[in-house]
Amino acid sequence: MLQIKDVTLQDVDALVVPVLEEQVALHEEINLLVTSKAFQGKEEELFVLPSLDATVKYTLYVGLGKLEDFTSESFKKAIATAVKKAKSLKAKTVGINLCVNEKLCVGSNVKNITEASLLGLYSFDKYKAQTEEKEAMTIYISGVPQEKQERAHQVLEESKNTVDGVILARDLTNEPSNAIYPETLARKVVEIFKDTDVEVEVLDEKQIEEFGMKAFLAVGQSSTHKPRLMVMRYRGEAAGSETLGLVGKGLTYDTGGYSLKPTDSMKTMHSDMGGAAAVIGAMYAIGKNKAKKNVTAVVAACENVIAPDSYKPGDIIGSMAGKTIEIGNTDAEGRLTLADAVTYIIEKEKVNKVIDVATLTGAVLVALGTEYTGVVTNNEEFYNELTTVAEKTGERFWKLPSCKEFAKLNKSTVADLKNIGGRNAGTITAGLFVGEFVKDLPWLHLDIAGTAWSDVCEGYVSKGGTGVPVKTLYGLVATPCPCSHQKDK
Ligand code: BES
Ligand code: ZN
Ligand code: ZN
Repeated sequence: MLQIKDVTLQDVDALVVPVLEEQVALHEEINLLVTSKAFQGKEEELFVLPSLDATVKYTLYVGLGKLEDFTSESFKKAIATAVKKAKSLKAKTVGINLCVNEKLCVGSNVKNITEASLLGLYSFDKYKAQTEEKEAMTIYISGVPQEKQERAHQVLEESKNTVDGVILARDLTNEPSNAIYPETLARKVVEIFKDTDVEVEVLDEKQIEEFGMKAFLAVGQSSTHKPRLMVMRYRGEAAGSETLGLVGKGLTYDTGGYSLKPTDSMKTMHSDMGGAAAVIGAMYAIGKNKAKKNVTAVVAACENVIAPDSYKPGDIIGSMAGKTIEIGNTDAEGRLTLADAVTYIIEKEKVNKVIDVATLTGAVLVALGTEYTGVVTNNEEFYNELTTVAEKTGERFWKLPSCKEFAKLNKSTVADLKNIGGRNAGTITAGLFVGEFVKDLPWLHLDIAGTAWSDVCEGYVSKGGTGVPVKTLYGLVATPCPCSHQKDK
């Protein structure tokens, strides 16, 4: 639980005091620590000062570094570290002081503290025996001035809903494939949006067949867990206005099919629906916050497994758009499901812009590592919109080049397209394959194979699903803050 309320150490088990290097000397009680160099306010420094009176209480001084290097991201990391420490000290009530300065206004403080503490405390442990009683921590954001109270409460509400969307995406991504497969994912989606402004429609295999989604079916039809197409519609604007289309790759498991993956690369492939999880999480935040835009999301969920009737390398398959595709590798399955999902969202849902989000290529990890989501686009302006929002959310994107020479690599000699473009530029050719189906609409392809999953728990990122890029997708449809909400850019 998170509240805005002024507290002192008397009122809580632990009080988090974020301090910039320049501010350390102002805190009388820790001045000696500066002299002894035990705490200087440097980034990632944490000093726990216990007071052992009648009850044990802690002041957690957390360093923010120098003001000139200070950003929302460094602030969030510091807060997450401190809150996790408070948890390990068994604190049940925690106060967090604001750090208002020329780079961070009160609203941004509230937003960052909400994200950092709630996401920092997240862990996926529902399948473990609970050794100790789980009691939720109560966190108080302390120091909001009277005149900023109303705005702070608005920001808190909006941030909590966005964080819930991120956590939803993390949970869905972390669930193993024996729990989340197309049918159970569809059931979950129906349940999640039951009492919200987001309308859900689920199409089964027969209906998918009627739409002619042959590429999607080629990937998913041989599994005992049959494919499902999920459509989520949110209307925040008057009829006749534009609709943004979100498409999420929804492979609830990717073995690679007959082009089988080695065990080590296969074992986290329950997270191959990270794109689907992100668009579902974003729709949740959009609906809860009653965004003033129209958004439709589509997830083509299926499992890529080996069965007697699975598709095979060398097969030539069809697609909803009518293009034929030569299969070069059954492990390049994501682009096949996306091709039909994109065609569906354009033709049947009549969206005006498309963003597809997919754990599409191992190549994006080679190119950009785990910090940057790779982007392929046909529209510079749309990309700039994305990066403007991303500067505020802290999620990072990087555009790859996409000239027509790359698109040529997806041409087949026996069909209209082939599903592998060769060894080179794997992320670009995969993206451009999807691009063959977006017609002339403004389009962004986000390859999150490197950013949707984390092997380590660090700052406010937990091990497993990260929930990237829920915050940025939400940010694209949210109403920008009226004040200079975040001043560090
Ligand atoms: N789901 C994988 C991509 C992936 C790799 C996601 C690592 C997360 C982490 C995708 O379906 C895949 O297997 N892509 C192939 C494409 C290749 C066969 C052209 C790849 O990247 O190796
Ligand atoms: Zn694959
Ligand atoms: Zn895949």
